[in-house]
Amino acid sequence: MPVQFWEQPTAIKHGFGSVSIAGEELLRLGAGAPLIVTDKGVVAAGLLDKVLEPLRGLGLKYAVFDEVVGNPPVALIGKGSETFRKHACDSLIALGGGSSMDTAKAIGVEVTHGGCILDYEYGKEPIVHRIPPMIAIPTTAGTGSEVTLWAVITDQERKIKFNVGGTPLIGPHVALIDPELMMGLPAHLTAWTGMDALSHAIECYTCAYAQPVTDAVALLAIEYIGKYLRRAVAYGQDREARYKMAMAATLAGMSYGVDSAGAIHAMAQSFGGYIDAHHGYLTAVMMPVVMNYNWMGCPEKYARIAQALGEDIKGLKIEDAAKLAVHAVSELAKDLEIPPLSSTGAKREDIPFLARIAFEDPQTIGNPRDLTYDSYVRMYEELLR
Ligand SMILES: [Fe+2]
Repeated sequence: MPVQFWEQPTAIKHGFGSVSIAGEELLRLGAGAPLIVTDKGVVAAGLLDKVLEPLRGLGLKYAVFDEVVGNPPVALIGKGSETFRKHACDSLIALGGGSSMDTAKAIGVEVTHGGCILDYEYGKEPIVHRIPPMIAIPTTAGTGSEVTLWAVITDQERKIKFNVGGTPLIGPHVALIDPELMMGLPAHLTAWTGMDALSHAIECYTCAYAQPVTDAVALLAIEYIGKYLRRAVAYGQDREARYKMAMAATLAGMSYGVDSAGAIHAMAQSFGGYIDAHHGYLTAVMMPVVMNYNWMGCPEKYARIAQALGEDIKGLKIEDAAKLAVHAVSELAKDLEIPPLSSTGAKREDIPFLARIAFEDPQTIGNPRDLTYDSYVRMYEELLR
């Protein structure tokens, strides 16, 4: 067995109202002039003000970069780095979903290393410096990017999404998780981002790189999501459900480690580079189909997933218990009214291309069942029937 490691460079501070300590946290990190990386939707929802208040209270100066878009492209990172330098910033606050947090991490890499984020695609130039002090404040319970060691960036020229990181040097210094900021998230986004978190936990629990620490956090994330995602979607003001979902997303992010995930993310990420669709939605629609393909590769672990999702597996053959995990996730996707993949505009003619880019995605490696180009074709045929 190869030597494995798991390292968490991020202090996790959480609870309703925790955003109010953003300024003190920044000072504790020895910084005082942050670039706040966010998007216009977050600003319009009034969430930026909740971060600015504690900064103003301490008399800190700051700059705001609110141009983040979903599936953040390479040029956006360059623009953010320019803003960071122009305002002589010394730190980063990411406020938003995965796109804002990944953009901030990537800006952190560019301003400490020079060059363009393309140079730091995993496997090319190594990241050797710690990013500037960074506080990640998620406004969705989904990506877990506040604790992952990865940033996912879109290369519009190659029409792919690529990964940057795989090292604790890119992890945020502080994750400030305030479920109050998630209370107003619309039902469909609560559903999609929650399913993204579930896909992280299931893929990391079953992939070839799983280890005891990641198993532990992944299983509790699965349990919380099974219990609380429907509630958070059905009644957005359910404080307990919002808090548990926020924790589930962070735990699922912690299960990521430094290795790859599996076929759900190989498909969702490569698809998202080709057709601009919401990442969480893609994982939600793809998860039941991929799980149906994968369960045979690790039936014991799938049986444990079924149990974590509340299924009664007592007295069942291991295969039947494993299939219950697939069933439970399919039912969850149905209850959450996840639209079919054709709603993105993808057509059956796209299948050969989509299957090829999924097969070439680095996250194909480590999947619990061997994958071929043809297995991706079959899964896409089911999704675009
Ligand atoms: Fe994801």
